[in-house]
Amino acid sequence: MAGQLSNTEAWSLLAGSVACLGVLQNTWKSNGEPIFASLALSGIAFAMSYSFIRWTGDAFMKAGRKGKDMSKKQQIEIPEMMGLVSALVYLLALITFLPFAFKIHIVEATSGGGNKDVVVDVTQVETGRFLHRFPLEKLASYGFAYGTLATITILGIIDDTFDIRWRHKFFIPAFASLPTLGLYFVDFGVTHVVVPMALRPYVGDLVDLGSLYYLYMSAISIFCPNSINILAGINGIEVGQSVIIAILILINDGLYLLPSTPYPHPATDSHLFSLYLLLPFLGVSLALLKHNWYPAKVFVGDTYCYFAGMVFAVVGILGHFSKTLLLLFIPQIFNFIYSAPQLFHIVPCPRHRLPRFNSRTGLLEPSVATFTDEKPLKPVVGEVLKVLHKLRLLRVETNEQGAVVSTTNFTILNLWLVWRGPKREDRLAMEILAMQFLVGLAGLWVRHRLALLVFSQDNRSSIV
Ligand code: UD1
Ligand code: MG
Repeated sequence: MAGQLSNTEAWSLLAGSVACLGVLQNTWKSNGEPIFASLALSGIAFAMSYSFIRWTGDAFMKAGRKGKDMSKKQQIEIPEMMGLVSALVYLLALITFLPFAFKIHIVEATSGGGNKDVVVDVTQVETGRFLHRFPLEKLASYGFAYGTLATITILGIIDDTFDIRWRHKFFIPAFASLPTLGLYFVDFGVTHVVVPMALRPYVGDLVDLGSLYYLYMSAISIFCPNSINILAGINGIEVGQSVIIAILILINDGLYLLPSTPYPHPATDSHLFSLYLLLPFLGVSLALLKHNWYPAKVFVGDTYCYFAGMVFAVVGILGHFSKTLLLLFIPQIFNFIYSAPQLFHIVPCPRHRLPRFNSRTGLLEPSVATFTDEKPLKPVVGEVLKVLHKLRLLRVETNEQGAVVSTTNFTILNLWLVWRGPKREDRLAMEILAMQFLVGLAGLWVRHRLALLVFSQDNRSSIV
């Protein structure tokens, strides 16, 4: 029954949660590694999101948060914006994790440099003489990340509620990124980038980009959320791509945390931070994916797309690997550039560009933008489209006079269908996600292998 967990689901979630609570309690008592607490909290976050998505779906519908699934024979309405549940559970999990992440420092700060046998007089603690040992700057990273993610969630709700026009909502994420950029300014302030070997004779080893670096980071935080939101429109694709990107970042984090990487390595803390932010993200996202996968029971909403993109922007920026991050966004970058003519209205852009459902075959076909007198296409643009058609980068239809009357919409989903023919919705989602994973792996390989050709060393092996 809709809105209820089945018996098997309820018992499995309960058993999993109890096991995770056990791990949490154990970690707390034994001052264990925060990674175990993070894993256990992610398990609990999965169970909570899973149950709340199921229980609150009807309430979302009643509140008008619903959407038509356009690629089905019966276009039934299902709850929209359910990613909000995941985002809220995530924020809760992140805050709950902090005592586990910092317990060891609290013990050190209040008991004399980690020596638990030395009990410090309480007056000394209150004067703050020992609390200076506490790594407040690390805590600040979590605090400001939380600030940014909570802000983007609020802005996402506004977007989903008011259905803002694309050109207006494009810049929304920039506001949410301000806490993170502010912290970067105060805490790191590093605006240097390493120069590839070939250019070093001219500009030196490092170049200080100054305020341009902040512009670059704002661009990242505008790009990541929006690029996920426009690679959308088929069941499972928004959450699916976010799960794949999170897994790829975790693989990259793993490379820095392997026993073979020299320790202490300057990047260890950054990658632990990334790990602690991404594990609960994976927990809440997998619960959402289960409900959003074909045939979808819920839609994720722009709230989720913005939130997910911002999680990646925050870990990339505060973890100092925003350039590596871009290598994991190659399909999104391609989709963004490919979409540009429609986004900037050089070519008319319909409200929805998702693939068209053919109810006769049950398969998805590329959707098209048609040009009329009200929505005309400049003849010179038409000529360019014909060239792109020849290059198999889109498909156009022309009238008897040879003028372009329609073109497939400029998204990677439609292009995939132009190349590979009509597909069932879940098949298309699987293929795109597999492509995302393989391209991301190749990106990481390039990052760590070929980097040696362009730079003098890969930072994974450096201790300085
Ligand atoms: C973005 C895209 C738009 C695409 C839409 C689909 C741009 C500039 N905008 O707009 O072209 O059509 O996402 O999400 O590229 N829907 C489905 N099946 C799905 C997912 C969504 O039918 O698997 C439909 C539902 O009616 C849902 C609606 O899309 O209610 C959500 O659209 P919304 O997220 O509001 O669109 P945008 O993000 O503005
Ligand atoms: Mg959307």
